[in-house]
Amino acid sequence: MPLVTTKEMFEKAYNGGYAIGAFNVNNMEIVQGITEAAAELNAPLILQVSKGARAYANHTYLMKLVEAAVIETGLPIALHLDHGNSFELCKSCIDGGFTSVMIDASSKSFEENIALTRQVVEYAHDHGVVVEAELGTLAGIEDEVNVSAEDSSYTRPEDVQEFVERTGCDSLAIAIGTSHGAYKFKPGTDPKLRLDILEEVQTRLPGFPIVLHGSSSVPQEFVKMINENGGNMPGAIGIPEEQLRLAAQKAVCKINIDSDLRLAMTASIRKYFNEHPDHFDPRQYLSPARDAIKAMVKHKIVDVLGCDGKA
Ligand code: G3H
Ligand code: 13P
Ligand code: ZN
Repeated sequence: MPLVTTKEMFEKAYNGGYAIGAFNVNNMEIVQGITEAAAELNAPLILQVSKGARAYANHTYLMKLVEAAVIETGLPIALHLDHGNSFELCKSCIDGGFTSVMIDASSKSFEENIALTRQVVEYAHDHGVVVEAELGTLAGIEDEVNVSAEDSSYTRPEDVQEFVERTGCDSLAIAIGTSHGAYKFKPGTDPKLRLDILEEVQTRLPGFPIVLHGSSSVPQEFVKMINENGGNMPGAIGIPEEQLRLAAQKAVCKINIDSDLRLAMTASIRKYFNEHPDHFDPRQYLSPARDAIKAMVKHKIVDVLGCDGKA
């Protein structure tokens, strides 16, 4: 099976009350860890590449790694540009074989966001590619952009219908309290997703797939493992998984997770070097790191997304 778009995946996810995991990829071990987990659980999958990942690993290398995963697993996999910030970047990924792109113009005015999103949608649809757009602003760090909690803003449900109608986008990322990165909330806070906003959006856009960014849960055992093995991460907590599960049962069809995989990989490598200070063969420390990513993705598929067995 070739790479697929998210169209059919999202229809099934919406009607089935589950969500598809969108995991960020940067190298071979990350692609393998994620796709082996999905294959063992027969789960549909979105692999996403940020602007930074593409600059780090090169478009062709990432493309070929993902194509290898499609051959090895036989799964429906969509290859998605995460946080595209210009028409040119989206066009380059569409021309280069991606099946889905995000144009993130959420920091622009409503009218500018519509105009840029519409431009990307026209080009993407002409090439059989689907488009995710964003309305509302998440807090946290993504690529070079750092948005403080004060500058973040929830999506206004009264805007979504006009935005979707005028842009023709295929899915919409909304801000309901999730946040990018590993430092989302201070320990002791009680993060609450605004599921009421999600429900209001769903009422106004029945059947339309909604996306959640910034959905890592920052598992404390990995932060602890990093700090016990020479790291120095400040305390922080993430999005409670049971709230993501509720969102997945509603209109949320795509849930983005990157930081939790970074934590699992880094914790594993730090532990490995602490236990084997004399080792220097990358295969020795990257094998358990790949296994740690695989275990994390399996947990997300079964306990958060609910998409196991849905490929
Ligand atoms: O939301 C952003 C993703 O976590 C990608 O991060 O731009 O550091 O690759 P990155
Ligand atoms: P996290 O930083 O919470 O993993 O979010 C990732 C993301 O939204 C990628 O677009
Ligand atoms: Zn994001």
